[in-house]
Amino acid sequence: MNKIKIIGEPVLREKSELITDIDEEIAKLAQDMGVIMQESNGIGLAAPQIGLSKRMFVTYAPNDKLRVFINPDIIMTSPETSAYEEGCLSIPGVYADVTRSSAVAIQAFNEKGKLFKLDADGILARVILHEYDHLQGKMFVDYLSEKKQQRILKKFRKK
Ligand code: NI
Repeated sequence: MNKIKIIGEPVLREKSELITDIDEEIAKLAQDMGVIMQESNGIGLAAPQIGLSKRMFVTYAPNDKLRVFINPDIIMTSPETSAYEEGCLSIPGVYADVTRSSAVAIQAFNEKGKLFKLDADGILARVILHEYDHLQGKMFVDYLSEKKQQRILKKFRKK
């Protein structure tokens, strides 16, 4: 059973919609996403990756807890950047260095509808920025050279 959408699926390229009610259904969805992410050995999962164009993602960075971000807003990204190898459950088997801000401040609602602010750095900051991109219809391969992107896309077209 694999619920995860793979690159090439249009939903991964849509701008996700705001969640208007953080109700029991959304709380259940957050829980399900946490389970799917962990079963897939991921450290982040955004709703579009399971076919839902909603502004919501979960993270489980190393040495961190499971976090839920609903209707997130990036408040600040650091001018300092770092490069680190990224992968994505929607682009299986592909890993590449991506340069991103080293730190981020984000505001979001949790699954209980509570607004929170978070300052993150290290891997958590990276995961947050990667997952936030998914809500904009953006994927990490977009940061790679045109040539590399073509090679990756070709690989997934063949299947
Ligand atoms: Ni991803």
